[in-house]
Amino acid sequence: MFWGCRNHPNHALIIDTAMSTVITEPESLASTLEEADPLPRPTAVLMATPGHFSVDYVINPHMKDHVGTVNREKARWQWEVIRDKFRKLGFTVHELPGEPGLPDMVFTANQSLPLLDKNGRKHALMSIMHSRQRRDEVPFFEQWYRRNGYEVHYPDPVSVPDFEGMGDAIWHFGKRLLWGGYGYRSSRNVYDFISGTFDVPVVPLELVHPSFYHLATCFCVLSSKAVLIYPPAFTQEGLDLIHAAFPVVIEAPEQEARDLFACNATCPDGRNVIIQKGCHDVNKALKANGFAFHEVETSEFLKSGGSVFCMKLMLWQP
Ligand code: ARG
Repeated sequence: MFWGCRNHPNHALIIDTAMSTVITEPESLASTLEEADPLPRPTAVLMATPGHFSVDYVINPHMKDHVGTVNREKARWQWEVIRDKFRKLGFTVHELPGEPGLPDMVFTANQSLPLLDKNGRKHALMSIMHSRQRRDEVPFFEQWYRRNGYEVHYPDPVSVPDFEGMGDAIWHFGKRLLWGGYGYRSSRNVYDFISGTFDVPVVPLELVHPSFYHLATCFCVLSSKAVLIYPPAFTQEGLDLIHAAFPVVIEAPEQEARDLFACNATCPDGRNVIIQKGCHDVNKALKANGFAFHEVETSEFLKSGGSVFCMKLMLWQP
């Protein structure tokens, strides 16, 4: 198999694969986690303005009955509340202007995966969107990264047909270890590529429920010890890996997970959870485990199959 990437094709290959750590056994996960390098807390988010957000096509089951139904004014207001929430929690918010004809660009978690290397240098692995309708979003993010001093990479398109960034690839809290969803929008191969190229341990998780097509729709890292999941979105092997890593696993009930995207909440600082309004059972469990929850309304974005987590990209920069 070919493992090169566009930035350095061919002979970096053997070194890349030799360093790859893809974890599939729960028994080896605890020690890998313990040995993993610390990952600094994110300090900023990138959001794309929602002026061109709409539901124009159907690429996930949530969009089916919503083509043409987005209320843009409401969407703008909901987006601003979320932006201000991040500011209040102390994060710098960078804004990228949304582009006409790219209605899903507002979901800024999907076009890339930001990475810090072991020396703390900033990299970005760009997505190869599974959804043809979303491919033209990626260059706008690449441009932003280049302007902000990141080294930009692409997966090898031969071994990695698709990858949807932080829709599927999610950092453990405080540890340089990545959780990687695959099955709908990202190919499993991308995780060998990431692990080999960036020397990061990755835990791949197969997704098996079409309404939970990104890992970010069914798996929300809350802290280094706690995670919020929707169990039917995973295989038993996946659930075993999750339980091996997190002593606290909060399970979202079906209605809150599917209709309110409870697991698409975000906990950017290990304590404060920003979550769609009305997830009562999840909120009770969050509170019982010492988290503070902040309810926001994302009804317009739920029509597109996205909520809080996907509307921002976490970054380590001022
Ligand atoms: N309509 C978008 C899509 O299907 C929504 C993406 C939201 N992101 C997420 N991780 N759920 O690609």
